[in-house]
Amino acid sequence: MTIRLAGVIGDPISHSRSPRLHGHWLQRYGIDGQYIPLHVRPADLRASLELLPRLGLSGINVTLPHKEAVFELAHTTTERAKAVGSANTLTFVDGQIHADNTDGYGFLANLDQGAATRDRAAPALVLGAGGAARGVIAALLQDGTDRVTLTNRTAARAETLASQFPDRVQVVPWDQAEHAVADHGLLVNTTSLGMVGQPPLQMSLDHLPPETIVTDIVYTPLETPLLASARARGNVVVDGLGMLLHQAVPGFEAWFGRTPTVDSDLRAAVLA
Ligand SMILES: NC(=O)c1ccc[n+]([C@@H]2O[C@H](COP(=O)([O-])OP(=O)(O)OC[C@H]3O[C@@H](n4cnc5c(N)ncnc54)[C@H](OP(=O)(O)O)[C@@H]3O)[C@@H](O)[C@H]2O)c1
Repeated sequence: MTIRLAGVIGDPISHSRSPRLHGHWLQRYGIDGQYIPLHVRPADLRASLELLPRLGLSGINVTLPHKEAVFELAHTTTERAKAVGSANTLTFVDGQIHADNTDGYGFLANLDQGAATRDRAAPALVLGAGGAARGVIAALLQDGTDRVTLTNRTAARAETLASQFPDRVQVVPWDQAEHAVADHGLLVNTTSLGMVGQPPLQMSLDHLPPETIVTDIVYTPLETPLLASARARGNVVVDGLGMLLHQAVPGFEAWFGRTPTVDSDLRAAVLA
C-alpha cells in the first residue's frame, strides 16, 4: 500500500502548527500517511512546486510568504482563491497544480461552530486591512452578510481593500471604530494587535451591543484582551484557533481521502 504524503511550505516554517494538526487526524483515522513541514525560500519556490509532486506528495499547505506566488504559478484556481488572489492549499493531480484558498471557509466554519445561532445577514465591522482581512471580507460577503464596515490604522490600505468589493464595503476612520460598532452584529479583529509580542487592541467596547458576536483571528493567546473584555460584558465570543483548524479540512480531505472533524480533542492536540 502506498503511503500518502502531504506537507506545508513556508519561510520560516518551524512555527507552523499544521504538522501537529494533520498528524493528529492521521493518527485518529488510522491513515497510512505523513504530513511534513518544508522550509522553502522564495528563490526555490518554482523548483519546489515542480519537484514535490514528482516526489509523490498529493498536495501541500502554503503559508507566508508564498500565498500570492503559488496562486500565480498554479494551473487552476478555485473561485474562492480568485476572490482573494492567493492560495493556501494546493493539490497535485497528473502534473497539474490546483490552488484553493480555504482561509475564508475556515473563518466561517469557526463562526458557525462557536456561534451557531448567529444571524448571517448581520452587518460586520472588520478591524484591519492586511492579507487575512481580504479573505474574511470575501467570505462574509459570499455568506450573505448585509454590509461590511472596514477600518484600519492606515486608511489608504482600507480604501484599497474596499475598492476590491465595489459598493459592498464602507470604510470608517480607525479612531471611530468604537462608535461604529454600535449597529453591527459581528465584530472581527483581523489586525495582529493582541497577539503575543504585539500591543493590545485599544478599543473601548462601551458601544458594543450585547447581542454582537465578537471574534478574533489572533489565536496566541487563545483569549485575546479583546475577547476577554467582550466576554466580561456578556457577549458571545469566538476565538481564532478554530479558523486555523477548519481551514485545514478541505486539504486533508483531498490528500488523505477522509473528511476530518474539528473537535475539542483536536484543539487540545494543537495547543499541546
Ligand atoms: N486564525 C487563523 O487561522 C489566522 C489566519 C491568518 C492570519 N491570522 C492572524 O491574523 C493577524 C493578521 O494577519 P495578516 O496576515 O493579515 O497580517 P498583515 O497582512 O501583516 O496585516 C496586519 C494588520 O494589523 C494591523 N496592525 C499591525 N500593527 C498595528 C498597530 N500597532 N496598530 C494598529 N494596527 C496594526 C495592520 O494595520 P496597517 O495596515 O496600518 O499596518 C494590518 O491591518 C496575525 O496575527 C495572524 O497571525 C490568523
